[in-house]
Amino acid sequence: MLPICKANPPELVRSPMNYIGGKYALLPQILPLFPKDINVFVDLFCGGCNVGINAQANKVIFNDNLKYLIDFYKLLYSLPKEDTLTHIRNRISEFDLSLTNNDGYISLRKLYNEKRNPLDLFVLVAYSFNHQIRFNTAHEFNNPFGKERSSYNPRMENNLIEFIDTLQSRDVLFSCFNFDDFDFSKLSINDYVYCDPPYLITTGSYNDGKRGFTGWNKTHEIRLLEILDELNSRGIRFSLSNVLRHKGNHNTILSEWLDSNDYYVHHLSKDYSNSSYHLKNRGETETDEVLVTNYICR
Ligand SMILES: C[S@@+](CC[C@H](N)C(=O)[O-])C[C@H]1O[C@@H](n2cnc3c(N)ncnc32)[C@H](O)[C@@H]1O
Repeated sequence: MLPICKANPPELVRSPMNYIGGKYALLPQILPLFPKDINVFVDLFCGGCNVGINAQANKVIFNDNLKYLIDFYKLLYSLPKEDTLTHIRNRISEFDLSLTNNDGYISLRKLYNEKRNPLDLFVLVAYSFNHQIRFNTAHEFNNPFGKERSSYNPRMENNLIEFIDTLQSRDVLFSCFNFDDFDFSKLSINDYVYCDPPYLITTGSYNDGKRGFTGWNKTHEIRLLEILDELNSRGIRFSLSNVLRHKGNHNTILSEWLDSNDYYVHHLSKDYSNSSYHLKNRGETETDEVLVTNYICR
């Protein structure tokens, strides 16, 4: 049996990206399930980085196959914070961005698609519909304007500042691989792999295969579970976020994998406030969100 864990959640940092499928609200339930003796923490599907940025570890590797997102984090890490904030404020005034200026938004979007300044992606996302990150097949950012709803506000700036401060105070590395191209061979038993893949039975803009990047399907799901088995056989601890059931759909690949292995399934509370949630009280249509670990937590 692999080592036991127990960690107290520290103060939480929120991603500046309002990421669909982001785990910020679930962190109070997820973080205590992580071991506290991690050397390298791999956030294999980092998305908004909500998990990796809050994980206790000597080093964090943030990986995602969305290159433009990773470019943004790399810049946040390397650039002085004031330069980042100044660039954002300058862009907002230069393009007169507001809750109503669609033309300004479209002009900045055009500039981003030509020049690919990663900080401009952040400004666009701040003003875009539902703050979504969407690209077309030509890898052009194509999310529409978030009229009357989306803007760069003080809350977002605070999140960004805290995020940069935390990122720059830590030993981190960024990579941009498809999960199955990631080099796991360098990991050892002191390391840890956290997986928050697109969910097979729910939809998110990152798993519909319509943004110029690979979608998520059964083949990916099966391959990921194989990788987790391989890590387990090498004594490397992992956890996997997923849903077993959602809107009447069941993830049978996941439940069959769980049936055939001795992993631990932690059912998370749907109201996100605590995990004292009894499975038997759930209706068939309710979402059963879980964290699977290959070690026991007490
Ligand atoms: C559910 S989101 C992760 C959210 C993140 N845990 C958070 O709290 O912000 C899933 C992420 O997986 C990434 N992704 C999708 N397919 C991938 C693949 N084949 N390899 C690596 N990353 C992938 C998506 O770009 C997306 O950012």
